[in-house]
Parts: sequence; structure tokens; C-alpha cells
Amino acid sequence: MSSVLKITDLHVEIEGKEILKGVNLEIKSGEIHAVMGPNGTGKSTLASAIMGHPKYEVTKGSITMDGEDVLEMEVDERAKAGLFLGMQYPSEISGVTTSDFLRSSMNAHRGEGNEVQLMPFIKQMDATMDFLEMDKNMAQRYLNEGFSGGEKKRNEILQLMMIEPAIGILDEIDSGLDIDALKVVSKGINKMRGDAFGCLIITHYQRLLNYIEPDFVHVMMQGRVVKSGGKELAQKLEAQGYEWIKQELGIEDETVEQKA
Ligand SMILES: Nc1ncnc2c1ncn2[C@@H]1O[C@H](COP(=O)(O)OP(=O)(O)O)[C@@H](O)[C@H]1O
Ligand SMILES: [Mg+2]
Repeated sequence: MSSVLKITDLHVEIEGKEILKGVNLEIKSGEIHAVMGPNGTGKSTLASAIMGHPKYEVTKGSITMDGEDVLEMEVDERAKAGLFLGMQYPSEISGVTTSDFLRSSMNAHRGEGNEVQLMPFIKQMDATMDFLEMDKNMAQRYLNEGFSGGEKKRNEILQLMMIEPAIGILDEIDSGLDIDALKVVSKGINKMRGDAFGCLIITHYQRLLNYIEPDFVHVMMQGRVVKSGGKELAQKLEAQGYEWIKQELGIEDETVEQKA
């Protein structure tokens, strides 16, 4: 099935302060998009708004998934519609094992009447944990509790691979990873790549894109997408940084909260 996530003129406020100031993006299954940009330019806000974090208020614009209004959906309905968010800072949940959480999330995505059975679930989880070079004991530990940064990010990719969403949004999945963990995380995303999967990779480093070749690259500044291109744009950013874009656009301060 092919899907399209469409974001049009999206404006988002947090506690009355405007953070996103008109974002336009379209992600189709089969495509890998990278959203890059320095810190404080609104990237995580975009991810949270797409998934429906209650703190983020959409004041203007639209988000649709296959033509359906995502903004009208509850968080669980967004998951059921095929959206998945891998978080920049995954939460630790004491009392819920990684395995139970994973099975519940899978079932939330699959919907009633289509739940995964226990044995196939365990088989698939074991195989996916092997693939991601994860310690099997982690499945029985409480979700993310005491996990290292790299283990938490692998765990996000484990969820991604088990849930198989139509569109995955990965926020700074590469931050804090050593080179081995970075390679494993990339391997997982590349395995997902295909006609049935679209991905929005949010990062402020180019290095992840050495392992995952994006089809499209977007740069965010001041709460907007200010530049889009192909993979060569990421290479140019790697070589030259962000300064040339700021000069080209006449921007002094790229953050959302521009200092006076
Ligand atoms: N929960 C929040 N409460 C108040 N301000 C926030 C919150 N989340 C983000 N912001 C502000 O929004 C701006 C953009 O943040 P963010 O979307 O996290 O940027 P990025 O992910 O690009 O670093 C920052 O100025 C940040 O301080
Ligand atoms: Mg962020």
C-alpha cells in the first residue's frame, strides 16, 4: 500500500509562543527524507506536532495522511493510520517490560481483531533483536530503564521494524551514538526501505546520511523549511556547514527564538 503524509503551511505554538511558522513537506512511501538544521530551529516540534503531543498547538495549516485529517485524530489513531515516531529522548517506563510494550504498540498499530499472537511475536522479536545486535535480556527489562543511549536508540529501531509503520519519523536517532551503534541503526532503517515505507529522518549531523542515502534533504531554520534538495545538499552542508544558507537568505540567527 502506498501512503502520503502531507504537511501544509503548518504553524505550531507552545504555551502561546509560535515555534513553527509555516512548514510544507510531503513524504510518500518509498521515499527517505532528511530534515536537517541547527539546534533550536523547530525540528523536534515538527515531529511532536505530527504525532499529536498535547503541548503543541496547531494554530494554522494542515497535516493529512492519505487525505485523512491527522489533526482530528487522537495519538493512538495516528499510530493506527500508519505513523510512528522514534523519539529524540525515549522515555523510561518502570514496571513495563520492553517486550510487553513492544507487543502492545504492535497491536495498537494493527488494530482490534488483528493482534499478533504470542509465539510469532516472540520469534519475530528474537530475530529482529539479533539483527540489531541487541542483548536478548533487554526484552525482559523495564522499557529503557538503565539503557545506554545506544541501547535506547536501537530499541526505537526495534519498534520501527516490528511495527512496520507506513511512515516513520525518527528524531535525532543518531545523536549520542558511537560508530558501531550508528551502523546498526542505519542497517535497520535501510532494511525497512522499500515501496511500503516512507521515512522522515531528523538530524543535525550529516554523518548518518553516509549510511542512509536520502532521496530528499530539507533544511529548517526559524521554524520553516528554508531549502530543499537531493542528497548533494547534505554533502554540501557537511563540507560547508549552514553559514552559506544563512547568507543566501539574509538570516543572522537561524533559531526560532531569535535574539534581539
Ligand atoms: N516544551 C517546550 N516548551 C517551551 N519551549 C519549547 C518546548 N519545546 C521546544 N521549545 C522551544 O522551541 C524552539 C524549537 O525547539 P525544537 O523544536 O526542540 O528545536 P530542534 O529540535 O530543532 O532543536 C526552541 O526555542 C525551544 O526552546
Ligand atoms: Mg530536536
